[in-house]
Amino acid sequence: MTVPVIAIDGPSASGKGAVAHQVAEALGFHCLESGALYRLVALAGPEHPEQTARAMQVTFQGGRIFLSGQDVTDKLREEAVGARASDVAQCPEVRRALLERQRAFRRPPGLVAEGRDMGTVVFPDAALKVFLTATPAVRAQRRHKQLIDKGIDANLAALSRDLAQRDERDAARAVAPLAPAPDALQLDSSERPLAQVVGLILGWCRERNLGGRA
Ligand code: C5P
Repeated sequence: MTVPVIAIDGPSASGKGAVAHQVAEALGFHCLESGALYRLVALAGPEHPEQTARAMQVTFQGGRIFLSGQDVTDKLREEAVGARASDVAQCPEVRRALLERQRAFRRPPGLVAEGRDMGTVVFPDAALKVFLTATPAVRAQRRHKQLIDKGIDANLAALSRDLAQRDERDAARAVAPLAPAPDALQLDSSERPLAQVVGLILGWCRERNLGGRA
C-alpha cells in the first residue's frame, strides 16, 4: 500500500511550517519542512551547491537539525539564510539532488510535506494537496512578530520588501516554480487563526480517510 502524503505548498510566511507540524502531530504522521534542505545547502556550501546537496550530512532529530553533527536549527531560520536558499533553489541540479532526500521522508504511517513544489513535483501523487496563502501584509506582519519574539531586531518595511522579492524569484524560476497544483485546495489564512486552518485541513483529511487519529 502506498504511504499517504499531504502536500502543503505556499509562499514564504504563509504559515505552512506551523500548520504542517500541527496537522502531522494530529494524524501521527511524519513531517518534512523541505525549505530546511534548501537552507542547509545555502549554509553548508553555497559555492558548490549541487555537490553540497548530494553530499551534505544531515540529521533530523527531536525537532532539531544537525549538519555534520552540529546543531544548526537556529542558524537555519535566519532571514539571510532564507534569501540565499531562494538563490540556490533556482539551480535545477540542486533541485534534482534534493528530490530523493525529500522522498525518503515518505514512511508509514504517512507524511505531511510543506514547501513550494510538494504537490507539483516531489509528491505529485499526494492524497491531499493544499495551497496555503495569506496577503503580503499579513505575511510580513507574521514574520516580523516571529523575529521580534525570538529577540531578533526586525524592520517591517524591509521584511515586506524581502518577502516580495523572494516570492517573485520563487514564482518566476524556470524549474518547479511556486504555483498551486491543478488539484490543490486553496486556503487563505489571512483572517483565520492557526487552529482554524489546521481544523479545516484535518476535515479534508477525514473526508479522504487519511490518518486514523484525525
Ligand atoms: O520555506 P522556506 O522559507 O524555509 O524556504 C526557503 C527557500 O527555499 C524558499 O524561498 C524557496 O526558494 C526554497 N524552496 C524551494 N522549494 C521548496 C522549499 C523551499 O524552492 N520545496
